[in-house]
Order: sequence, then C-alpha cells, then structure tokens
Amino acid sequence: MSYPQQTRGNRAVSSVSTLLLSIFFFISKPLNAQSSSSPDFACDVTRDPSLAGYGFCNAGLKDEARVTDLVGRLTLEEKIGFLVSKATGVSRLGIPDYNWWSEALHGVSDVGGGSSFTGPVPGATSFPQVILTAASFNVSLFQAIGKVVSTEARAMYNVGAAGLTFWSPNVNIFRDPRWGRGQETSGEDPTLTSKYAVAYVKGLQGTDGGDPNRLKVAACCKHYTAYDVDNWKGVSRYTFNSVVNQQDMDDTFQPPFKSCVVDGNVASVMCSYNQVNGKPTCADPDLLSGVIRGQWKLNGYIVSDCDSVEVIYKNQNYTSTPEEAVAKSMLAGLDLNCDHFTGQHAMGAVNAGLVNETDVDNAISNNFATLMRLGFFNGDPKKQPYGNLGPQDVCTVENQELAREAARQGIVLLKNSPSSLPFSPSVIKTLAVIGPNANVTDTMIGNYHGVPCNYTTPLQGLVETVWASYQQGCSNVACTDADIDSATSLAASADAVVLVMGTDLSIEREDHDRLDLFLPGKQQQLVTEVAKAAKGPVVLVIMSGGGLDVTFAKNDPKITSIMWVGFPGQAGGLSIADVIFGRYNPSGKLPMTWYPQSYVENLPMSNMNMRPDNSTGYPGRTYRFYSGETVYAFGDGLSYTHFSHRLIKAPRLVSLGLAKSHPCRTSRCQSVDAVGPYCGKAVEVQLSIRNTGDREGSQTVFLFTTPPAVHRSPVKHLLAFEKVRLGKKEKAGVRFTVDVCKDLSVVDETGKRKIALGEHVLHIGSLKHYLNIAHILKTIAQSSVFPAQDDDTTKEEDFTFSMAVQPDGEAVLEAKDLASHVDGIVLKD
Ligand SMILES: *[C@@H]1O[C@H](CO)[C@@H](O)[C@H](O)[C@H]1NC(C)=O
Ligand SMILES: *[C@@H]1O[C@H](CO)[C@@H](O)[C@H](O)[C@H]1NC(C)=O
Ligand SMILES: *[C@@H]1O[C@H](CO)[C@@H](O)[C@H](O)[C@H]1NC(C)=O
Ligand SMILES: *[C@@H]1O[C@H](CO)[C@@H](O)[C@H](O)[C@H]1NC(C)=O
Ligand SMILES: *[C@@H]1O[C@H](CO)[C@@H](O)[C@H](O)[C@H]1NC(C)=O
Ligand SMILES: *[C@@H]1O[C@H](CO)[C@@H](O)[C@H](O)[C@H]1NC(C)=O
Repeated sequence: MSYPQQTRGNRAVSSVSTLLLSIFFFISKPLNAQSSSSPDFACDVTRDPSLAGYGFCNAGLKDEARVTDLVGRLTLEEKIGFLVSKATGVSRLGIPDYNWWSEALHGVSDVGGGSSFTGPVPGATSFPQVILTAASFNVSLFQAIGKVVSTEARAMYNVGAAGLTFWSPNVNIFRDPRWGRGQETSGEDPTLTSKYAVAYVKGLQGTDGGDPNRLKVAACCKHYTAYDVDNWKGVSRYTFNSVVNQQDMDDTFQPPFKSCVVDGNVASVMCSYNQVNGKPTCADPDLLSGVIRGQWKLNGYIVSDCDSVEVIYKNQNYTSTPEEAVAKSMLAGLDLNCDHFTGQHAMGAVNAGLVNETDVDNAISNNFATLMRLGFFNGDPKKQPYGNLGPQDVCTVENQELAREAARQGIVLLKNSPSSLPFSPSVIKTLAVIGPNANVTDTMIGNYHGVPCNYTTPLQGLVETVWASYQQGCSNVACTDADIDSATSLAASADAVVLVMGTDLSIEREDHDRLDLFLPGKQQQLVTEVAKAAKGPVVLVIMSGGGLDVTFAKNDPKITSIMWVGFPGQAGGLSIADVIFGRYNPSGKLPMTWYPQSYVENLPMSNMNMRPDNSTGYPGRTYRFYSGETVYAFGDGLSYTHFSHRLIKAPRLVSLGLAKSHPCRTSRCQSVDAVGPYCGKAVEVQLSIRNTGDREGSQTVFLFTTPPAVHRSPVKHLLAFEKVRLGKKEKAGVRFTVDVCKDLSVVDETGKRKIALGEHVLHIGSLKHYLNIAHILKTIAQSSVFPAQDDDTTKEEDFTFSMAVQPDGEAVLEAKDLASHVDGIVLKD
C-alpha cells in the first residue's frame, strides 16, 4: 500500500474517533509526518520551488558549505531548537521538525518516538537480543543484521515512519552479571564487543556505493563511558560515580568506543548518565572533546542520554544552575541533548555569558553535517538512493529468515548427555513442553524492541515437528507458586521433556539490576521435580539476558541437556526447534562468564575494578581477570559434532630489534612501549581445523593469549576469533595475523600500551603455544622446522607439533617473511 492512501485512511479513522484516540494519533505519529498528507522533507523543491535558491539545499555543494549556509540563516532561537532531540523545524526555510531519537538495537524499534509502527509499516524484523547474536561470534552475521535493519529503516523513512538517526549499538562491557542491560550488549570481552560494534555499525551506516561521506542511516555507540550499573541496592545510574583506574579505563571500558569511532567510523557517540571519577561524562571535556573528537576524530555528533544534561544539575547537583549544566556540557563537546533540558536553558546560558553563539553554532554544525551525509536536506527521498524502498521491503521472507538464522547461530548448548540431543522425531514422538517461558512472545525480544513481523513461540516451533502437550508450570517467571503436580504428571506421560525457564524484563531490565543469579522463585524446584518424573531425556532451555547459577542442573543427571537461548527474537521458537531436532547444529559460545551465586554475594556491583585484589579478597571480573570457579565459562558451547585443531605455523620467538641506544639494551626491562619501528608489523598464526564427526557444523576458533605477568596483565585475553563452517570430515585452514604492538601489548598502570617481554602463551582450545618476545636478536636461526611439543596434554584435539610443520619451503618462507616484517625473527629448538 502506498503511503498517501494509508495516511488518508488514518485520517479518516481519527476524524471519527474519540478524543483519546486522536490524542494518541497525535503523539505517536512521527514528527515529520504530522502536518500533511505525505511526509514533509527538507529541501523538497518539487513541493516548494523557492527552496532551490538556498545553498543548504544545493546537493552540488560540499556538505561543509551547505552547513555553513544553513547556520548562517538561522536566528539564535532557531539554532537552539536544533540542540535537542525533538528538533523544531523552521517553516520559513522549509525545514520540518525532526525527532533524532530512534533506536535499532536488534531491529527498528519505536522507543524514542522517531520511528513508529502506527502508520504504514505495522512491524519490522525483530532479531535476537544482542547478547545472543554476539554468541554466534560471526562477524559477517553482525554486519548482515545491521544491513537488513538499515534497509528496513530506510524503507520506513521513505514513508514518514522512521528517522535516520539510530542510537544503537550499546557497546558497554557486561562487567557484572547482575546488570539489567547486559542483554543489550555483546558481552564481557572488549575484543568481541569491538568487533560487534564495528560490524553492526558498518551494516547500519554503509551505503551501497561505499562512500564514507554518505550514510545509509546514522548509528550511535553508547553509553560513553564506564556505564554498567543501573539500579542496584540504592545505587542509581543517575548519580553513580564510576570510579575507574586508568588501566581499566584503557583496556576494558574504552576499547569498544575507540574501535567504533576509529574503525567503524560511527556517526555518533552517546555520553552516559553516570559520572566517571567525579565528573559527569556529558560534561567532561577530556572525555568528549579530548578523546572522542580530538584523539579518535569522530566525524559526527555527540548526544546525551535522555536527559543526562538535566541529571547533571537535578540529580547530581554538579552545577548550581540549569544554565551551567547546559554550558558545561556544550563546552565539553556535547552537540545534542536527548530530551528538552538544553532547549529550555540554552538561551539563559547565552544571556548569562556562560556560552556564546559560536559555541551553539559548533554544536548544531555537527548535527547538521550528519543530516547532510544522510541526505536529509536533499528533498524527497524517493529520488535518492534507497528511494525505491517501501513497506514491501520490511519483514520480507529473507529478513525474517535471517532473524531465525541469527538465533540458531547464537543458541549455546551447555550440557548434552549421551543420547539426549538432538531428538529424532521418529524416536521422540511426544513432548511435554513446560515452563513460564515455553509459550511466550514479547519475552523473546527483550528490551529496545519494536513490533515484530510475527512471532513463533517455543511451543509453536516444537509442535511443527512433533506432538506436544503444554503446561506453564508457574504463572510467570517470578514463579512464586509452581503447579508441580500437573507438570510432573505431564512430564511422566511424554517421551521427552523440554522445560523453557529463565527470566524476562520483570527480572532484568533497564533501571533494574538483579540481586542474585538464581532462577527466580520456585523455578529450580519445578525443574528438579519435573526431571525426576520424566521417563526420557530432559532439556532445560534457559531464556535470559544474563547468566544464571544453574549448578543444580549441571549436576543433575536427570537433566540431560541445557541450552541457553538468550532472548531469541521473533523467530525464537523456530530456532529452538531447529536445534532440538538437529536441523541446525548448535555453534554458539557464551560471550560472558556464568558465575556461581557465591561470586556476587559479597561483591558490590558498584566496584568497577576489573583486577582482583588478594589482600581484600576482591575476585576480579570477567574471564580476563577472574580465575575462580564458574558455572560456565566465557567461550563455552557444545556442538553435535567434534572438531580438532592443529597448529600449522606460529613463531616461537619475536625479536623487537631495539635500537642500540634503547635503554632496554643495557638494563633489565619487563616491557617496552608499544610504539616504535616494530609497530604495524605482524606475525602469523596458522591452524588447521577439522570436523572429525559425521555432521556439518560451525566452530569458533578462539585465539587467546596469556601475557607475561607484568603490569597486572589479564589471566588471558581474546586476541582474535574466526568462525568456520565445516562439512562432515571436512578440514579448513584458519590464519590469524597478530600485530605485535596492537595485539600482543598490554595496558600498564598508567594507561599506556606496552609490549611485555618474555613468554606469551597462545591458547587455541586446549592447545598451547609459547611465543617469546625478546628485545634483541638473541639466537641465530638454526632450523626452519618448529620443534615437537610433547608437553601438550590435549586428547580430543589431534594435533602434534612434530607433525604440524612440515620441513618444507613454507616454514622457510615464513621465517623470511617474518624477518622482513619484524626486525628479527628466530626459530629455535
Ligand atoms: C542534590 O541536592 C538535593 C536537594 O538539595 C538533595 O536532595 C540530593 O540528595 C543531592 N544529591 C546529591 C547526589 O548530592
Ligand atoms: C565564544 O566562546 C568560545 C569559548 O567557549 C571562545 O573561544 C570564542 O572566542 C567565543 N566567541 C565569541 C564570538 O565571543
Ligand atoms: C501460545 O501462545 C500463542 C501466542 O500468544 C497463543 O495464541 C496460543 O493460544 C498459546 N497456546 C497455548 C496452548 O496456550
Ligand atoms: C507467523 O508465525 C506462525 C507460527 O510460526 C505461522 O504459522 C504463520 O504463518 C506466520 N504468519 C506470517 C504472516 O508469516
Ligand atoms: C592472587 O591469588 C591467586 C589465587 O590464590 C593467585 O593465583 C595469584 O597469583 C595472586 N595474585 C597476586 C597478585 O598475588
Ligand atoms: C555466518 O553468518 C552468515 C550469515 O548468516 C552465514 O552465511 C555463514 O554461514 C555464517 N558462518 C558460519 C561459519 O557459520
């Protein structure tokens, strides 16, 4: 249906409706579609030929010149209207209102009001919540999802149903398992989060022509920075002062933002509510102008959280007047205020001399420049790239299939006893499907969702394959009362049981962190009793954003399989069934540690330190620093097949070849600065991976490294990963290029990157490889063959180092290659 017809339809409805309905219509319509029968677009010269005379409407000019022209035409009052998310249009210049606030965390969302589903597009493809997509460890999937989301967004924009500026992704680190917003993130690891951010941003922003100065839609990496406490035991994000040392800042909290800006070329960064070391992030000139714009060279705008400018004054008492909060944030580098506060107090701030018109001009210029890159000032989008997209391009069969595929790729199989999964429909003819999440719809899409195209619940997915009976077990996930008797008798009557348990937004959400890690209420009791009564295999499916302490289930032999499905999106039920019946071989890996309850018992969520402190018993956080007991570890995840890894080549010694004058040539050094002639050089780690089973499957190959124990470096950290799909018995090569300065360095106590000298241990699966970094060339190359390594204890992985490298030309070539890249490379026995 074309947009004008639909609008007429809507208008007819509202003219005969109650007052209430028309108020609803008014507030829920996107701003740029409010006033006429088809959406208003800036510089639409077909509608108003007089606009052609304005420089800012002239697409032939450079963006910068167009922005200068536009700013020059505006009064101060009009300019202030462009400092806030609900920007006020200027009708004398043909500029419509624009709501900057749209979201697209895992599909176009209507949160924020910039996009809406009450008009010509009733729903959009709802992908799994990000934490599950992250579990796929498939970078091309991350980008493919971003691309579909931006296509649907453009299609909606063309008919006035969406904005062009989307405040996604959330690139904060999932530091504490209790965080209510952990579900929105890609987990606890900075490397994965950086890769997710870059790929998703490229998917959203990248135009078909690849011109970096054009944007398909504008993404935004948020919430900058060190933000991951919402509301925990009276600690609120609005007033929380996140105390972060420089080392954690630079090796945990900042890297995803840096990658997002530097490698992803994101068009926006959002500063958070909290303070960092006593300063509100949105009013910190070092963090905004200094780092984001200065060091990282953001090409775009910095936006506040909603409304984190107000919070500076009202909640934090950081300034004594509202005007001061507006001025401080603007002078720190903030360009746009989500919500209204800056709009109300900017004129006062100018009048009080706290900021001047040039400061306002700078801010709005960054905002306008972004809109220019989006084609906002190029008139009717129908005549522009992506102009032929419309409602027919939203919720297509292909897009919905990608939502199903994303959930399949993310689902993590955590436990699987022999003869449990996958189920064969010829053996398992009847299923008992039990649990408060067994037939849910909106639980599957988590937060920052839109309206999905369609839902398939777990129950609906499973009954497509076999006959199933269903009991909710408890009326909701809180499970204060469980109907255990009905559930157990149902379980006893079926060939197999699938329990779908876990949480939903009532347990973990924005502004609501968890207090414990247990399955809520009587869920554990229900699961245990049902498993006891079951006569066949019992699959525990956990739907949740964060990890749970399911030690009881891990240890219960009656519970034969455990699957984590995150919040799996609109097609969750289909994907769960695909995995349960073996139509898809699970390949997801946990992107976050699952801790036992004891971990959080005496651990304040508000302690931001990543590193353990033995003197106080502080355990440290995430797999990079915590070495205690886990329920399931970062990277855990089973497959229905088996894989073996074999190292093909990797250097044993890398010499940095320091200059003769370097102090480390004469005195003992633990590390050297990760700057110097040896930077930008890379060594290669090459592996082969084989699917030794008789089923196709995908495997994520993780390359971890444990640096020498200097500078309180991580226990281990993820250097790179690569997901490969292999047919049965198939073999493939995986090659990692390891940049000596970027990848093998650690951040020291002052935030400086250093290359630790000495033995670095590379881990791939249970395989270990020792790589020594020396400052000078110590040994003469004696052999082109890597020595046999007999201290390897791996059993399931059939590599042996003596077999790994053939004494052929390749290794010699490698030595030569490396020698030409780093100042000296030595292969020693
Ligand atoms: C800010 O001031 C108000 C009013 O005086 C007070 O209630 C509040 O506790 C103060 N907040 C902080 C974070 O100091
Ligand atoms: C406006 O203020 C900025 C600093 O905030 C200053 O650099 C600039 O010179 C001022 N401009 C005018 C015209 O006063
Ligand atoms: C399962 O949920 C769907 C969607 O809400 C609903 O239509 C259906 O009736 C439910 N099935 C059962 C057996 O409750
Ligand atoms: C929605 O999903 C249900 C359950 O999987 C399916 O039967 C139905 O055909 C789908 N509807 C559309 C319009 O795709
Ligand atoms: C802290 O304790 C752990 C476990 O006992 C130990 O492995 C580690 O080396 C200690 N770290 C320091 C810095 O003492
Ligand atoms: C990664 O995702 C893409 C897009 O869905 C898919 O085509 C590819 O097979 C996936 N890779 C692996 C190794 O599973």
